Amino acid sequence: MRIDKDRLKYLVKDKLQKAGLQSEHAEVTADVLAYADLRGIHSHGAMRTEYYAERIAKGGINVQPKTSFEQTGPSTAIYDGDNGAGHYMAKEAMKEAIAMAKEQGAAIVGVKNISHSGALSYFVDQAVKEQMIGISVCQSDPMVVPFGGTEPYYGTNPIAFGAPGEKGKSMIFDMATTVQAWGKILHARSKNEAIPDNWAVDSNGEPTTDPFKVNALLPISGPKGYGLMMMVDVLSDILLGLPFGKNVTSMYEDMTAYRKLGQLHIVINPAFFTNVETFLQSITQTMNDLNQIKPAPGFEHVLYPGQPNEIQQQAYEKDGIELVDDIYDYLVADTIHRNAYDQKNPFAE
Ligand code: NAI
Repeated sequence: MRIDKDRLKYLVKDKLQKAGLQSEHAEVTADVLAYADLRGIHSHGAMRTEYYAERIAKGGINVQPKTSFEQTGPSTAIYDGDNGAGHYMAKEAMKEAIAMAKEQGAAIVGVKNISHSGALSYFVDQAVKEQMIGISVCQSDPMVVPFGGTEPYYGTNPIAFGAPGEKGKSMIFDMATTVQAWGKILHARSKNEAIPDNWAVDSNGEPTTDPFKVNALLPISGPKGYGLMMMVDVLSDILLGLPFGKNVTSMYEDMTAYRKLGQLHIVINPAFFTNVETFLQSITQTMNDLNQIKPAPGFEHVLYPGQPNEIQQQAYEKDGIELVDDIYDYLVADTIHRNAYDQKNPFAE
């Protein structure tokens, strides 16, 4: 079915409030989820609502958090979310980082003790809208083998980067550091289809094409993606004194416990490095240069990073967001949640 962004946001907010989240936190969470759907990032859109509703209802997200913000140096700070709604906390922390970068030229804000914060592009987009570069990384629960290993150690540890161009245009890159998201394995299972042999490994650490034998995901490009995951783990967990590596809390194990997750925002103000107008023009120039490169066989155009999401956004703004019927049915039903996630293994089976 098709749904307008505002209506989707309204339904998600309503469900989260009924689960127990306060209005302001539900509003921001719904905004981040609707933003993700609008940009075609359905893995982190409204489909997550029921999971959040269950965790809120069972006490695994603090609905009365006492947050704190402490500036620890001229351009460094810690935002403690007291285990409240991750989307809200990550957004607030980014606001602080932007304010600091306006004054100091750059800011690094560690966000600690939050729940899952969804699609990271939302937060770098906050910085981009202020004509600054935004970078955000966060930890996630262990489901990826280190290069050459047989057991999961790191999470899908995502990285987002955004740079502003002219006239509100931007390049926003946002990715998990795994070849594919876990959702794609579930999708292959539901269709009883084989998966490519570079997505995941079985319990011996051998690449598998059988989605039912998957024991862990693979990092992008072998040791290189593995290195990026390590970097995200250091920046968003170890640097903030949080559980790291295989000790990061699982998304599905105990829905009554706080997740104590970490995230790191970095904001760079171009005005402290170069002429801002020149910077914005050069970003626009790069975007145009990339679009003008002759496409390889099988490609219609060369797109700049994030452009597929922009194209999707324009189409959804015109025709409505494509939403799976089951998700809509849940959003409009009286049910808060169906005990679908509690006490599951990391892969929610
Ligand atoms: P993806 O594989 O769909 O896209 C990755 C990036 O590649 C995007 O920036 C996209 O615009 C760009 N891209 C794709 N095709 C392109 C093309 N033809 N030309 C130019 N650029 C192109 O993203 P992925 O890895 O599936 O991640 C989805 C979301 O999951 C992200 O928003 C990420 O932040 C989120 N995530 C969040 C986690 C959390 O714990 N909060 C954990 C893992 C992922």
